[in-house]
Amino acid sequence: MPSWDDGQPEIPLTGGDVTEGLVRVGDTVRRPPGEQSPWVRDLLQHLEKAGFEGAPRHLGVDSAGRDVLTYVEGEVAGRPWPTWIADEDRLVSVARLVRAYDDAAESFGMPDAWPAPIEPPGLPPGPADPPQLVGHRDITPENVVFRDGKAAALIDFDLARPTTRLEEVMNVMLWWGPFGEDADLDPRMRGLDVPRRCRLIADAYGLAESDRAKLLAVAILQNRRAWHLMKHRAEKLGGGWQRMWDEGVGDKIQRRQDWLDRHEHSITAALLNYG
Ligand SMILES: Nc1ncnc2c1ncn2[C@@H]1O[C@H](COP(=O)(O)OP(=O)(O)O)[C@@H](O)[C@H]1O
Ligand SMILES: [Mg+2]
Repeated sequence: MPSWDDGQPEIPLTGGDVTEGLVRVGDTVRRPPGEQSPWVRDLLQHLEKAGFEGAPRHLGVDSAGRDVLTYVEGEVAGRPWPTWIADEDRLVSVARLVRAYDDAAESFGMPDAWPAPIEPPGLPPGPADPPQLVGHRDITPENVVFRDGKAAALIDFDLARPTTRLEEVMNVMLWWGPFGEDADLDPRMRGLDVPRRCRLIADAYGLAESDRAKLLAVAILQNRRAWHLMKHRAEKLGGGWQRMWDEGVGDKIQRRQDWLDRHEHSITAALLNYG
């Protein structure tokens, strides 16, 4: 039984928005447990067995009940984001890493007892396609570790759930395209050729033609659902979720809805090579 409680200093990790009490201790990270912890542990162990190198290893649970993960060395975008965050080479490497993750996650299968999805009142029904794998679903710049200018690992599996490849790629586009009004984006992500970048993402991932054709329709539906889900999390979970809501994330999602409606055609055209 390894001892992780040897009095090394605990250094708070504050890069993310949500997880409180996250610390680095030596070459490990300690995460306070949430309802998803047992599934995330199984998923990370599966990824290790599958030989996937792009995720932290789950080492165990410490005496405070926290999950002990390996600290992944490399560069993570902090706020404000660095200029390199918009580089196309980085974008392509993120899409390739997500493809490798999805391929490794596919053989994990579909655990039968994942925490039930939240269904707040008024939530429009989700897309009809059945889930294909347990996706990461939160591929933000703060959740990708880069080494030598390339995406090397995904961290923060708190939102991992059964999903489709289409929605994984859509999540990459949301953050790295990115989707949204320039005024709502980090200054480093403004004025980019988003349709071109979405095409680079889809090509680097190797997204099927049939998924490309419906991606924007699913993005529009999921964005509408995101407003309800964020509101619900703010009300039920408080903390960082409430803070994000107070800072106007709901209005930002509404503005993104208009943006998606206006850009649906040009992005789909880029994905499918017409127009
Ligand atoms: N296993 C890890 N290896 C390296 N850095 C990590 C690891 N886990 C978290 N971090 C760092 O801490 C930050 C916040 O962690 P994250 O798991 O993303 O929490 P949150 O749920 O708040 O987004 C990350 O952006 C990253 O900089
Ligand atoms: Mg995070």
